[in-house]
Amino acid sequence: MIPCRGEDEIEKIDRACRVVRTVLGELSELAVPGITTAELDAHAEAQCRKVGATPAFLGYMEYPASLCISVDEEVVHGIPKRRRLKDGDLVSIDFGVRLDGYYGDSAITCEVGTVTEEGRRLSRVTRECLLKGIEQVRPGGHLQDIGHAVETHARKAGLGVVRDFAGHGIGTRLHEEPEVPNYGRRGRGPRIERGMVFAIEPMITAGKAAVRVLEDGWTAVTRDGSLAAHWELVAVATDKGPRVLGEFENR
Ligand code: MF3
Ligand code: CO
Repeated sequence: MIPCRGEDEIEKIDRACRVVRTVLGELSELAVPGITTAELDAHAEAQCRKVGATPAFLGYMEYPASLCISVDEEVVHGIPKRRRLKDGDLVSIDFGVRLDGYYGDSAITCEVGTVTEEGRRLSRVTRECLLKGIEQVRPGGHLQDIGHAVETHARKAGLGVVRDFAGHGIGTRLHEEPEVPNYGRRGRGPRIERGMVFAIEPMITAGKAAVRVLEDGWTAVTRDGSLAAHWELVAVATDKGPRVLGEFENR
């Protein structure tokens, strides 16, 4: 069963997402050569707690940090550590919080200093994939329309679509039904209804899509060492179409 959220619940997920996106905005400014990924993590945790939210990843399946920071060939779930960012790094930062019983979750890919043309294009296309997926979050559509849109856009650009990780429903838990893969067939899967909330998170590679997990038990890297990018947002299906949560403008 995929939960359909009411107005008041959407409002709470929206607030949690706004905390996440505010902090990610700060992190994107802080992600310059010389800063360590552990310092970014400490900033995120402090800002989160300051507004009365709780980091959602910390302790989740024993994950040891508040952020996932994945550099270059790291795809997702990179653990913050004393490593310093350097010019040219392509850095995906994923953050989630719990606020007032509801969750928010988003990811951005940042360019540290000057990134190669390949890296810049990869991040841009991955972000476009996310937006294409979000366009499919509307009542009457089907769940797999989301992944189909993501995959089609990435493939057209000649990029790899990671299949080992997926987006997810989100609400009173970080990960809820359904799983939202970044591939699929148009018109397949459960019907999308008003109030369904999805975290959509394409993970796209410049080379092959195969990944493996490092000895730390978390960090997923591309098997061929190619660059990866990751962007994530939360969207709810409304009668007027998709609505992205945690936006800053007044509606
Ligand atoms: N943002 C990731 C996701 O959407 C969560 C990281 S999993 C954790 O699935 F264990 F690190 F928290
Ligand atoms: Co997520």
